[in-house]
Amino acid sequence: MLFNSFIFRFSSVMKLKLCLSFLMFFVIHDVQSAKSQWMALVPSTIPAVQGSCVVIPCTYNYPRPSSKKIINSWLGFWKKGNKVLATSIQKWKLPVEYKKRTQFLAKLRTRNCTMLLDSVRSTDVGPFYFRIEMPQYKSFSYTQNSVSIDVIRNPPPPTLSVEVNDQVYATCSVFHSCPSIPPQFSWSHTGVIKSQSKKVNAWNWQTVSTLTFPPLATDFNKPLNCTVRHRGGKEAQSSIILLI
Ligand SMILES: *[C@@H]1O[C@H](CO)[C@@H](O)[C@H](O)[C@H]1NC(C)=O
Ligand SMILES: *[C@@H]1O[C@H](CO)[C@@H](O)[C@H](O)[C@H]1NC(C)=O
Repeated sequence: MLFNSFIFRFSSVMKLKLCLSFLMFFVIHDVQSAKSQWMALVPSTIPAVQGSCVVIPCTYNYPRPSSKKIINSWLGFWKKGNKVLATSIQKWKLPVEYKKRTQFLAKLRTRNCTMLLDSVRSTDVGPFYFRIEMPQYKSFSYTQNSVSIDVIRNPPPPTLSVEVNDQVYATCSVFHSCPSIPPQFSWSHTGVIKSQSKKVNAWNWQTVSTLTFPPLATDFNKPLNCTVRHRGGKEAQSSIILLI
């Protein structure tokens, strides 16, 4: 009631402003409470070619300790069930299954829990989840925010297109999950080859290879092939007929 009579004295413009600032307060309050919950931000499923690598992007949050506790130690674990795949603890003995295939990519103090899994096996489907241990505070397993890997046994053919002017300009591209060792391209025709990668979203990259060459009459009505070889050796090919 006190609040109502308070508002009553304002002009309608002021009322609106007050309402807006109250709305803002709730919006900001909501964002902040989301930031201070036991929550990890990860994609639920990531496609990855078998044999290749996959970067699992991850950030995590925890409620602020109520007292003025100083947290200066964070121990991170990536797990599947009770098995540890990767950890920030250097001396930890990982199961043979995961040894030398996983890497912690980021510092835990920045709430980044990104992990890399290499030589993806058909059995690496997950679900995988992150666990944080803060000896001065609490520990938590983010089992509600788990990641599954959609292991692709036969990678799809690359996207191939060609433009013919004075030069033949061909473009071949694929999406992948392994930015550290991007796919390699090979072409059935010689020419100037350039390759470039870009990030599409948090877990997906695109690598594009272009081939440029001056065509001879004998090049026409013949297939031009682009072969992509993913990290780990899986290959896929696309073919296009060069038309005048
Ligand atoms: C987390 O760390 C990885 C690896 O260093 C980095 O690529 C990524 O951008 C970081 N994510 C955020 C949200 O800072
Ligand atoms: C290009 O691909 C076509 C169709 O798949 C195939 O018949 C041909 O042998 C390939 N050529 C080369 C040079 O790889």
